[in-house]
Amino acid sequence: MSGQTVKALVAVDGHVNGELVERVIGDPRVAVSAVGDPSMGWPSREDAEALLVVCRDESEEGLELVRRAHADYPGRPVVVACEGSPNGFLRKAFRAGAEDVVSITTPDQTAIDTYLALAKAVARRDSDKLTATEGRVITVLGPKGGTGKTLVSTNLAAALSSEHQRAVVIDLDLQFGDVGLAMGLRPERTLYDLAMSGGSPDATKLEGYIVDHVSGAGALLAPTRPDQAASVTPDSVRELIRVLRASTPFVVIDTPPAFSPEVIAALDESTDICMVTMLDAPSLKNTKIALETLQLLGVQVPVRLVLNRSDSNVGISHADVVAILGRAPDVLVPSSREVVRSVNAGEPIVTASGKRNEPAKALRALAGLYLREGS
Ligand SMILES: Nc1ncnc2c1ncn2[C@@H]1O[C@H](COP(=O)(O)OP(=O)(O)O)[C@@H](O)[C@H]1O
Ligand SMILES: [Mg+2]
Repeated sequence: MSGQTVKALVAVDGHVNGELVERVIGDPRVAVSAVGDPSMGWPSREDAEALLVVCRDESEEGLELVRRAHADYPGRPVVVACEGSPNGFLRKAFRAGAEDVVSITTPDQTAIDTYLALAKAVARRDSDKLTATEGRVITVLGPKGGTGKTLVSTNLAAALSSEHQRAVVIDLDLQFGDVGLAMGLRPERTLYDLAMSGGSPDATKLEGYIVDHVSGAGALLAPTRPDQAASVTPDSVRELIRVLRASTPFVVIDTPPAFSPEVIAALDESTDICMVTMLDAPSLKNTKIALETLQLLGVQVPVRLVLNRSDSNVGISHADVVAILGRAPDVLVPSSREVVRSVNAGEPIVTASGKRNEPAKALRALAGLYLREGS
């Protein structure tokens, strides 16, 4: 898969007009390989990564296109965009072999939904190819509030997902989590609702509680009120991570500035740690203590170090950081008004417009480190 686009081969049943098709494939991240004539079956385009059928509900022609896709393009996921009510059609479409069904609503929303469905289907196929390898679990830690944990976790997830490695953020800052705010997501469903639903989660149930971001990332948001935090237990966190990583290339965990029981449970399930620190004496002292605590807890996974606000002129040099922590940071994120602006706008800086600024580059470089190491 290349950059942020999905190459899709599109087939349209005879009853959908061209204007509607333009709407469905209107997202710039959908690169259309060719639009096929249903009576001729699928055109031959080997570069297609996914197939898209645009049809009316109850369209036999549409279902036939889905069936033929599996014969003509084995291994390529098929997504259906359906005009009208998909209710009765859903089962038939899935039975014919569709990976996902998008309902055609307003133009903008439909274009985004279609892109997300295609990108997710391709990411799922790619992660299936990694036969039985489970997703990585990156827990983001930092010694105190305001260090940049949420900045790093939300941008890491958005940057990974923009490279078609879907990442889901779990907001374990259970009392004052602000992942939703940083990503501009409404907390319609949260970890509290998931806890209240009872029973063990499976992948399908979890999807119902994940709130999607336009980058392709997802988020399991923190409860909206501090008194709901206790509903999330360490055991439920462990179970949640295990289920999620079976179907998701990256799980990114945002945390409060404490080794709470839920954070310790998450560390047990983590494959990686990303430690965020800043250039002030309390941060560095507490980062050192946190690194020592990880050893005491027997956590032996690789730790990446991010120095946030790395250009602050506060009388502590980068050499001091190395002397105190015994290692150099992997990534330096400078201070920038763009960061504050992106947080206030609820748009991760790596996907916001004007994303060529230095903090965005640094955060994308962090994602690049994880991508290069492979899943
Ligand atoms: N590199 C930076 N440049 C400018 N402001 C920053 C930077 N990093 C963090 N901030 C500011 O600090 C606030 C707190 O960051 P956040 O990621 O929420 O910290 P934490 O999750 O560790 O409490 C952000 O909302 C932002 O306003
Ligand atoms: Mg935070």
